[in-house]
Amino acid sequence: MPVAASALSWLAVAGRSSSSAMTRLMLGRTLERICKGVLLLCLLHFLIMMILYFDVYSQRFDLFSRFNNGRNGSRNNVSGAAGNGHHFYYYNLSRPNATLASYAATGEQVVPSSQPETNQTPSPKPLPPCPENPPGLVGRLLIEFSSQMTMERVQKENPNVTEGGRYTPPDCQPRWKVAIIIPFRHRENHLKYWLHYLHPILRRQRIDYGIYIINQLGEDTFNRAKLLNVGYTEALKEAEYDCFIFSDVDLIPMDDRNLYHCYDQPRHFAIAMDKFGFRLPYAGYFGGVSGLSKKQFLKINGFPNEYWGWGGEDDDIYNRITLNGMKVSRPDVRLGRYRMIKHERDKHNEPNPQRFNKIQNTKNTMKKDGISSLTYRVVQVKRYPLYTNISVEIGKPPPRPFKG
Ligand SMILES: *[C@@H]1O[C@H](CO)[C@@H](O)[C@H](O)[C@H]1NC(C)=O
Ligand SMILES: *[C@@H]1O[C@H](CO)[C@@H](O)[C@H](O)[C@H]1NC(C)=O
Ligand SMILES: *[C@@H]1O[C@H](CO)[C@@H](O)[C@H](O)[C@H]1NC(C)=O
Ligand SMILES: *[C@@H]1O[C@H](CO)[C@@H](O)[C@H](O)[C@H]1NC(C)=O
Ligand SMILES: *[C@@H]1O[C@H](CO)[C@@H](O)[C@H](O)[C@H]1NC(C)=O
Ligand SMILES: *[C@@H]1O[C@H](CO)[C@@H](O)[C@H](O)[C@H]1NC(C)=O
Repeated sequence: MPVAASALSWLAVAGRSSSSAMTRLMLGRTLERICKGVLLLCLLHFLIMMILYFDVYSQRFDLFSRFNNGRNGSRNNVSGAAGNGHHFYYYNLSRPNATLASYAATGEQVVPSSQPETNQTPSPKPLPPCPENPPGLVGRLLIEFSSQMTMERVQKENPNVTEGGRYTPPDCQPRWKVAIIIPFRHRENHLKYWLHYLHPILRRQRIDYGIYIINQLGEDTFNRAKLLNVGYTEALKEAEYDCFIFSDVDLIPMDDRNLYHCYDQPRHFAIAMDKFGFRLPYAGYFGGVSGLSKKQFLKINGFPNEYWGWGGEDDDIYNRITLNGMKVSRPDVRLGRYRMIKHERDKHNEPNPQRFNKIQNTKNTMKKDGISSLTYRVVQVKRYPLYTNISVEIGKPPPRPFKG
């Protein structure tokens, strides 16, 4: 280190005191060592900066594909989104011949192009991401169930819904792919109203979605949560959904700003139903309409399969969420209003007398009872213009233990 050395010699010359040359020499040596250390650190720092710089650079322009190819970082994830403030880079590297160059070229908000990148000009312009607050929403809605409703009418109202009840916004890249799961038995009349109201709402919300009716065959006791598990599994066979919304067929949102997609935490949508005086009936209520991302759903091992009859399963799901360190998110109470279609209590869905005991035991049961232990038989999958009807056999409750 010539600089350090000359500084030291200067120090030595400048030292005018009469203290021994030995002390000065030792001081000099120590200083020299410190200087060397500092310089080395500087170099190391510079090197790291360079590596980071080129790494980021290669992410944007794909010039240094070596950096990316051998690596399975989060950025190499299918449909991964690398957040950069409010700008998102969406890319799908499992797509054949996808490169990141096209994204850098088109600016900040970019989506995968469906064209292989064989030449420089991507022909169909990639769509912008759908707005987080869709501009076409109308807010509070008038919901009534007195007008005559027919499936033909609902079909005419929704010409752009494709077979099986699928829809994707034509002009933007949706942020979520949502499967809407409806547990079902003998409620054809309610379904017409549900489809009549929900299809236009979901369209305005600019989500990519599919509607799945999970129809419990036979007349054994109804099992809502198990049907929801079936819905999750069957929907994933249809498309790569990343968000699941579980809705009763008789619940219609009264405000389209209650957005049907997934959130950081499991979502409870139906927080203010007319039948409860537009209030949450109790703090841990999770019934009616709820939504979990795929990741959140798997984290809680799905829903319980052993709640036969009415009630309790939603409390069990709530327990699963909190026991797994998540908490329920909810919309503003003014936006979370719902109207319920009035009806008689269904046959074969009597209140489950075991529900109070069972919800005490979620902690012990959730690991073995859930999506991991689900068994059922699909009897028929039928795609109608406005929904998919999946008819299943899910068994019946185990014989009630003899009470002695
Ligand atoms: C990347 O992940 C794939 C599957 O996810 C695996 O087959 C491959 O070996 C991984 N490559 C590296 C370098 O980790
Ligand atoms: C991809 O991302 C998902 C969630 O975003 C994560 O669970 C998964 O481990 C990631 N895979 C890789 C290869 O990084
Ligand atoms: C990514 O591309 C693959 C292959 O084209 C496709 O199957 C998959 O659905 C795409 N994923 C997303 C999220 O677009
Ligand atoms: C990817 O690109 C290579 C070379 O340009 C081409 O041979 C191959 O067919 C492409 N694959 C696909 C799936 O487009
Ligand atoms: C259906 O799609 C067409 C073409 O994108 C559009 O012009 C029309 O307004 C849409 N109809 C409805 C009811 O959304
Ligand atoms: C679904 O299919 C089953 C079996 O064919 C049928 O009984 C039921 O009525 C259908 N439900 C709806 C809503 O289409």
